[in-house]
Amino acid sequence: MKTITIQLDSHSYDIGIGEGLLSGIGAACKAVGLAGAAAVVTNPTVAPLYAGVVTGSLQQAGFTPVVIEIPDGEEFKTGETLNSVYDRLLEAGLDRRSFIVALGGGVVGDLAGFAAATFLRGIPFVQVPTTLLAQVDSSVGGKTGIDHPLGKNLIGAFYQPHLVLSDVSTLKTLSERHYRAGLAEVIKYGAVLDAELFALLEAKVDGLLKRDPQLLGRVIARCCEIKAWVVEQDEREGGLRAVLNYGHTLGHAFETLSGYRDLVHGEAVAIGMVQAAQLSQREGYCSVGDVERITTLVQQVGLPSDAPVVATEDLITSLAKDKKNRSGTLQYVCNRGIGSYVFHQFTPAQLAEACCSGR
Ligand SMILES: NC(=O)c1ccc[n+]([C@@H]2O[C@H](COP(=O)([O-])OP(=O)(O)OC[C@H]3O[C@@H](n4cnc5c(N)ncnc54)[C@H](O)[C@@H]3O)[C@@H](O)[C@H]2O)c1
Ligand SMILES: [Zn+2]
Repeated sequence: MKTITIQLDSHSYDIGIGEGLLSGIGAACKAVGLAGAAAVVTNPTVAPLYAGVVTGSLQQAGFTPVVIEIPDGEEFKTGETLNSVYDRLLEAGLDRRSFIVALGGGVVGDLAGFAAATFLRGIPFVQVPTTLLAQVDSSVGGKTGIDHPLGKNLIGAFYQPHLVLSDVSTLKTLSERHYRAGLAEVIKYGAVLDAELFALLEAKVDGLLKRDPQLLGRVIARCCEIKAWVVEQDEREGGLRAVLNYGHTLGHAFETLSGYRDLVHGEAVAIGMVQAAQLSQREGYCSVGDVERITTLVQQVGLPSDAPVVATEDLITSLAKDKKNRSGTLQYVCNRGIGSYVFHQFTPAQLAEACCSGR
């Protein structure tokens, strides 16, 4: 197992990454001083695969686990589902000495983390991410929350877990589409923060597609190190953390305009990264060769690279609603070559026109 420590002013914790870690979760929780009842929040897709191992291990270590299932899907990352989790936590008699284990992808992690942040004004929680996206992104950094009818992730809290345990063996059962979507976030780290990681991904496309556990362990650990480094410097997204939005500004707009149906998040981010590379080249921040490398890697792992056909006006409207929109301009993340970044201000109209005219 590889361990990465996140050191924040308020709280430090470890991320463990490796094969077959689920069976050691009980001992790991004990080792960080947790005690009492453990509520394992998961969903009907993940529970049959992994809840048994997790509860078994917790029991063996002396905990009394209860399993709380929430329906599977982003559309259930809501206040209603959260309330049902509170109900179950109260019914099960959880008190302030108890803790929550989030077992699943980003949806479960975000919602269960927010439940932990708010139940009895906060109880400890452990992240056990089971999707690639959750292992490299959502389980690291302490953002928890739910969606609101008016927008995604509008309600939430910064709340750090006691421990993150990423078992790469769980990725074997992930659908091809969600696995590839997670690779988009992996490519993101390489493209703007780590040229060496980017080169490794280029050299190991076959291993990535075969989900080689050793390679995945190495890649996921590197992504967590990078995210930890970013979050340690900017826990609450005042500055540097915005670099993680690379590919996400246009990506989010495409995701929204597709009605969250045609494109899953990672696919939209993949398209957004290719657009970002092209814009960066136009602004003189990277070369045509760099754009080609990013586009090729995105395509080789089976992610889309072409922007969907959308009306410029719709794209402008969607971009103007971006949370990061500050007084009419968007702080946009450009590539400075491969493995480095530069922030550039664009108006929504400039971005939309550059994007739609490129076709
Ligand atoms: N907190 C953050 O910093 C942060 C960062 C990025 C994304 N997010 C959030 O993460 C969510 C997306 O997460 P996601 O991509 O993991 O989606 P997800 O949680 O919906 O999981 C994708 C699908 O895979 C299934 N699944 C999970 N693990 C599996 C496994 N091992 N085997 C088989 N199936 C499995 C899930 O049940 C689901 O159907 C979004 O809500 C997004 O807002 C949060
Ligand atoms: Zn993302």
